[in-house]
Amino acid sequence: MWSSNELTERLKLDRPIFQAPMGDYTTPALAAAVADSGGLGGLGMWGYSAEEAERRISGFRQLTAGSLNVNYPLWEHPGGLSGMGPEMRARLQALYDEKGLGPVPHPRPSTGEVDEDHLDVLKRLRPEVVSFHFGLPDDAILGAVKEAGIFVICSATTVAEAKALEARGVDAIIAQGTEAGGHRGTFSGTHISMQPGLFALVPQVVDAVKVPVIAAGGIADGRGIAAALMLGASAVQIGTAFLRCEEANVPGQNRERLATASDSSTVVSDVVTGRPARFIRNRLIDELSAEGLEPLPFPAQSGLTHPLEKAGDGELMGLYAGQSAALTRDLPAAGLIETLVRETNESLSRFVGSTGHLA
Ligand SMILES: Cc1cc2nc3c(=O)[nH]c(=O)nc-3n(C[C@H](O)[C@H](O)[C@H](O)COP(=O)(O)O)c2cc1C
Repeated sequence: MWSSNELTERLKLDRPIFQAPMGDYTTPALAAAVADSGGLGGLGMWGYSAEEAERRISGFRQLTAGSLNVNYPLWEHPGGLSGMGPEMRARLQALYDEKGLGPVPHPRPSTGEVDEDHLDVLKRLRPEVVSFHFGLPDDAILGAVKEAGIFVICSATTVAEAKALEARGVDAIIAQGTEAGGHRGTFSGTHISMQPGLFALVPQVVDAVKVPVIAAGGIADGRGIAAALMLGASAVQIGTAFLRCEEANVPGQNRERLATASDSSTVVSDVVTGRPARFIRNRLIDELSAEGLEPLPFPAQSGLTHPLEKAGDGELMGLYAGQSAALTRDLPAAGLIETLVRETNESLSRFVGSTGHLA
């Protein structure tokens, strides 16, 4: 049966479907609805304090006995930023002035880490899975998370990254194809034009590592799930398709942009946050890219672009989305999982007879 394997058994899942942890787009209600339907719920912790992380995990636990993935994007302190990016700031100031938003704020450096307080929350509340994006933390943190009995996974965008993660001791690897919405999980500096799409990436990662592989990027219906499993994936991680679930924290205007997207609506750009990510293409990205301006280091650049959201103009706010945005549907999370399972069954049964052999 396609829906059960070593990975799903280890994580107590009925379906090999992971709902991507997507920062504050993901809510305890969304993750719980997915977990209640037999998938893996995901909660992003980017920007959340340890107390907020605790509240989010506890909120999930109150709603369901299912399994949870808690996610940390990691990045290093960029050093001092004062006086950086004057041209970028001037270009943004023109957009701020157009919307009457006052002066562009000064960039603030930050670090993305699992600090002692977060580690304490993880050890006490023990989510079934902790996932990392942009590489792994140092051995002390990684070891402490694993010692707590937590299953550790991390995104890889190339075979070399997957091997490096396996060598550091991850329990499974998310193979993130270039179709994926959100930030590229790359941590090796491989240029986006050289990172493979999911169809090429998954079988090559499966051949290169011994741990289970989770396919992510452009999967939004059962055909995509069936294909990923055929390519050797043990599970899929789906992001964009969950953004239109009522439980996701996505404003109406952005839901509309997803609903009207086409196959060529998205673009990978670093001008919104300082790191390459796939977004719905819009005026903000076009104008900041046109002049070849260097963005500030991640995520200080988003400290400059984010306040534009106050203007409520979809053309001036970043909306992360993958290349299959046009395949997404307006469904509650439980309905989406049910639909994905039915479609996967239909896709697979087209090729396999009732005996389980090829027809
Ligand atoms: C809105 C959005 C936010 C995301 N935020 C994160 C994040 O905080 N951490 C992370 O590991 N991945 C994040 N991702 C990437 C997902 O983990 C995953 O790679 C991607 O959603 C898969 O492609 P798909 O969107 O086409 O399904 C995000 C994706 C989207 C669409």
